[in-house]
Amino acid sequence: MQHPCLMLLLILQQAPKVTGSSKQLFAATGSSVLLTFKNVTEIIWFMQWEYKKGPTQKGIVDYFKSDSKIVIYDHYEGRVQFHTSNGSLELRNAQVNDSGTYMVTVNLKKTLVREILLLVIDPVSKPGLQTDSKLADTPIQLSCAVEHLAAVKDVVWKKNGQLLCPDGHYVFSEDFRVLQIQNGQKSDCGSYSCNVSNEVSWDEASLDLIIDGKGYAA
Ligand SMILES: *[C@@H]1O[C@H](CO)[C@@H](O)[C@H](O)[C@H]1NC(C)=O
Ligand SMILES: *[C@@H]1O[C@H](CO)[C@@H](O)[C@H](O)[C@H]1NC(C)=O
Ligand SMILES: *[C@@H]1O[C@H](CO)[C@@H](O)[C@H](O)[C@H]1NC(C)=O
Ligand SMILES: *[C@@H]1O[C@H](CO)[C@@H](O)[C@H](O)[C@H]1NC(C)=O
Repeated sequence: MQHPCLMLLLILQQAPKVTGSSKQLFAATGSSVLLTFKNVTEIIWFMQWEYKKGPTQKGIVDYFKSDSKIVIYDHYEGRVQFHTSNGSLELRNAQVNDSGTYMVTVNLKKTLVREILLLVIDPVSKPGLQTDSKLADTPIQLSCAVEHLAAVKDVVWKKNGQLLCPDGHYVFSEDFRVLQIQNGQKSDCGSYSCNVSNEVSWDEASLDLIIDGKGYAA
């Protein structure tokens, strides 16, 4: 995902697509994640799900089709559900440290290994929108405050529902959390909102800006 104001640049650059048999999945902390796999046509008689991160590799579940036996490893007891119908694995109450590669092996064959890279991230917290000045003919700063800043990936600003992009009038801080209106005018009055988001969640705050037109006769 890219900032909407940068979309045009992106079209020119065309980011390379991720290819290959491994896929990437995002999940919010505390949510349930369904890990699935495709492209196995062979008749399944044995399946194993494993977790891998750096040098760590541990078993999650073994499934023996012939006697319908499901073995869930200690660490995952009560946290996962294995669906015998299609071999998918449900991980409950996902935590940040569950991020890593989930590997499923079918019939103990190296050619029947599928990998899913899971990234568990915290949802964004509710932002707050504040302004420092309401005086006409002065710079007016709007700040989008977020508690858990590390979780935020994108900040998008709107005025009366219209996307705001950097130009001579609107200047943004590098992380897009602060919007500065160069020279506040009556025409800048309106409803401003900031939408903070990441791969798993979003939230927004809004503020009605009223400019005090001191110095203006009209
Ligand atoms: C399916 O698997 C085969 C061999 O394991 C591989 O050659 C092929 O590219 C895969 N297809 C897809 C769509 O992943
Ligand atoms: C697999 O089975 C489970 C449980 O029946 C179901 O929730 C899920 O949608 C199924 N689909 C895939 C693609 O795994
Ligand atoms: C992962 O995090 C959870 C919650 O923060 C904690 O209870 C658990 O012990 C951690 N597991 C590992 C393997 O570090
Ligand atoms: C906020 O941003 C997210 C992520 O881009 C988007 O999905 C959501 O619709 C936006 N919310 C509003 C009210 O525009």
